[in-house]
Amino acid sequence: MNKTIPYGKQSIDRSDIDAVTEVLQSDFITTGPKVSEFEKSICDFTGAKFAVAVSSGTAALHCAMFAAGIKPGDEVIVTPMTFVASSNAILYCGGTPVFADVLPGSLLIDPAEVEKKITERTKAVVAVDYAGQPCDYGALRGICKKHGLLLISDACHSIGAKYKGGKTGTLADMTAFSFHPVKHITTGEGGMITIDNPDFAARLKMFRGHGISTDYRQREEKGSWFYEMVDLGYNYRITDFQCALGISQLKKLPGWISRRQEIAAKYDAEFKDNPSIIPIRKSPDISHAYHLYVIKLEKADRNQAFTELRNSGIGVNVHYIPVHLHPYYKKTFGTTEGLCPVAEDAFRKIISLPMFPGLKDEELKTVITKIKRLS
Ligand SMILES: Cc1ncc(COP(=O)(O)O)c(C=O)c1O
Repeated sequence: MNKTIPYGKQSIDRSDIDAVTEVLQSDFITTGPKVSEFEKSICDFTGAKFAVAVSSGTAALHCAMFAAGIKPGDEVIVTPMTFVASSNAILYCGGTPVFADVLPGSLLIDPAEVEKKITERTKAVVAVDYAGQPCDYGALRGICKKHGLLLISDACHSIGAKYKGGKTGTLADMTAFSFHPVKHITTGEGGMITIDNPDFAARLKMFRGHGISTDYRQREEKGSWFYEMVDLGYNYRITDFQCALGISQLKKLPGWISRRQEIAAKYDAEFKDNPSIIPIRKSPDISHAYHLYVIKLEKADRNQAFTELRNSGIGVNVHYIPVHLHPYYKKTFGTTEGLCPVAEDAFRKIISLPMFPGLKDEELKTVITKIKRLS
């Protein structure tokens, strides 16, 4: 039997393996020099002033919520069209998620819906760059400025994307990235927060290490044993060998994004005049990083199509069940169908097609032929 073509997959080569091996043979395998080197590489790549490396994208979002000062009673506006982690991070700090519906073409958070959901308890907005397309940061920044809110970008899908020429990582007050293997670059598990504000950077670093004011290496450098815990933090540290992998992967990111864009252009051209297959709309203001290539099936039954494609070796997926419809959210916050009708309607039709730099042209052709047969 032929192997299934996955919807996403990491690319690891000899240089990645050598980079990890080198660290494993060194003195530091965690909290060593590779962590700050990876942080610096991400600053250089994104143009952000500070970066804090952590153990996952989820940890990055939790750190951002802590630095934003989210507390019980605070409301945070978030899109429902995302992985649960974007919203769960609000809950970890005791905040209440308030779902703002998405735009029907792009499935990105609708700035007009955000504005409607603001109350005197609103503290922040979480914008998710769904599928790799930056949100309308111009509009969102304007709203946040007007109402004194923090803008947090969940760019777990969009490293290397641009909005009006500005790179993700610099478009909001804080930006979270993920380095899970299906993402653009991987560290196995891993994440990063980028920020321009030095006070936030210090709070994020402290939260990453149990709320302790210095880390092990800083104490070694000072020849001191003394430390104090000044806030309640977590162990969200990432290892040096993971960061070595991240540094090695990041060097290849521009080429990988070009390949993702090439694959998307091929899909776009094939589905252009097909009324049964509607790709998610791309704004002319952005450069898309294409973590996912998502289409809406306007005629075919999505669940049946999913089964047919999986049975024929195409590893399609569905991103996402709107967050407010998960049982935990329903029972905890009383959210129901009808809260975000645009996201709910899209959810019934969407399917994610294979999209990763290692996808071969013959595999792409096979995927396209099988998708077209559905309609
Ligand atoms: C939009 C979004 N936010 C957050 C996360 C969480 O990232 P991680 O898996 O690295 O914790 C993911 C991961 O799938 C994601 O897709």
